[in-house]
Amino acid sequence: MVVGATGQLGSGVVRAFRETGGYAVVGLSHGEVECTDPASVLETLVPLRPRVVVNCAGFVRVDACEEDPKRAFEVNALGALHVARACREAGARCVHVSTDYVFDGAKAEPYLEEDLPNPLNVYGASKLAGEHLVVQTCPDALVVRVASLFGGLGSRGKGTNFVLTVLERARRGEALRVVDDVRMSPTYAEDAAAAIVELVAAGASGVFHVVNKGACSWYELAVRVLELAGLRVPVHPVPQEAYPARARRPRNSALSTAKLEARGLRLPPWEDAVQRYLAALSGRA
Ligand SMILES: NC(=O)c1ccc[n+]([C@@H]2O[C@H](COP(=O)([O-])OP(=O)(O)OC[C@H]3O[C@@H](n4cnc5c(N)ncnc54)[C@H](OP(=O)(O)O)[C@@H]3O)[C@@H](O)[C@H]2O)c1
Repeated sequence: MVVGATGQLGSGVVRAFRETGGYAVVGLSHGEVECTDPASVLETLVPLRPRVVVNCAGFVRVDACEEDPKRAFEVNALGALHVARACREAGARCVHVSTDYVFDGAKAEPYLEEDLPNPLNVYGASKLAGEHLVVQTCPDALVVRVASLFGGLGSRGKGTNFVLTVLERARRGEALRVVDDVRMSPTYAEDAAAAIVELVAAGASGVFHVVNKGACSWYELAVRVLELAGLRVPVHPVPQEAYPARARRPRNSALSTAKLEARGLRLPPWEDAVQRYLAALSGRA
């Protein structure tokens, strides 16, 4: 069962389980289950007796979380708790999706699963609270931290994703000013979804970083997107301060995938992932 099944990641997770075969997959949209309402979660999930529940629902607009911390915690923390309680009630394995924004970015190297989280913003704090509540409720839960997602038609909550925004602006002929002093791990939602299916199949539990191999700045990502798309517009690197935002962001949220690789799982490099996403977009067009 996938909660948040119409989202950028959730729709990929539904597809990945279906394509793998051997799973009867139920995807639940926001219209079918309201995570912030414990009765809705229990009454929807438990009677269906799921064996595995992957919770991809979230309040993902980082600046909006800063403005509405109550909503952020209702969805990302309490919503996660309600889903975990329903999993416990149904005897289902709980798989929870979290974020690189649990870290503060002070580390120079990619973050390991055992590094101490210290979120800089309400979104990260609400997601970290969600992780804790899930593991308290379902000690064998699988917590998957993803990052900087791109896939499908973008995040439903954000209405887009970074790659789509770059393409849209470049096609309008706009020069781009892109942040070059923030590093992260760009991740194709389809690749993350496939890895989640493999972790579930292997019965993994605990925290895993599930991102494409490598890391880059937003500027480097934009440059690569434009190159691969064959679009020629000027791109200027700018510091994070050029875009004042409500929420502070970590300067480095690159995630190490060494733990994943130790289990024989490796996501392709982010450059390869961007290329496949662009190919999928042009196929769709
Ligand atoms: N996007 C990123 O770059 C990123 C980075 C790190 C981690 N993550 C995490 O990855 C997960 C998926 O992100 P995404 O980009 O796929 O987001 P998304 O496209 O906005 O998908 C979120 C899904 O959750 C549903 N949802 C929202 N609030 C809900 C609620 N109260 N009850 C039930 N369903 C609800 C949404 O439905 P409606 O749209 O109909 O409301 C949507 O289907 C989230 O946990 C997010 O925190 C995302």
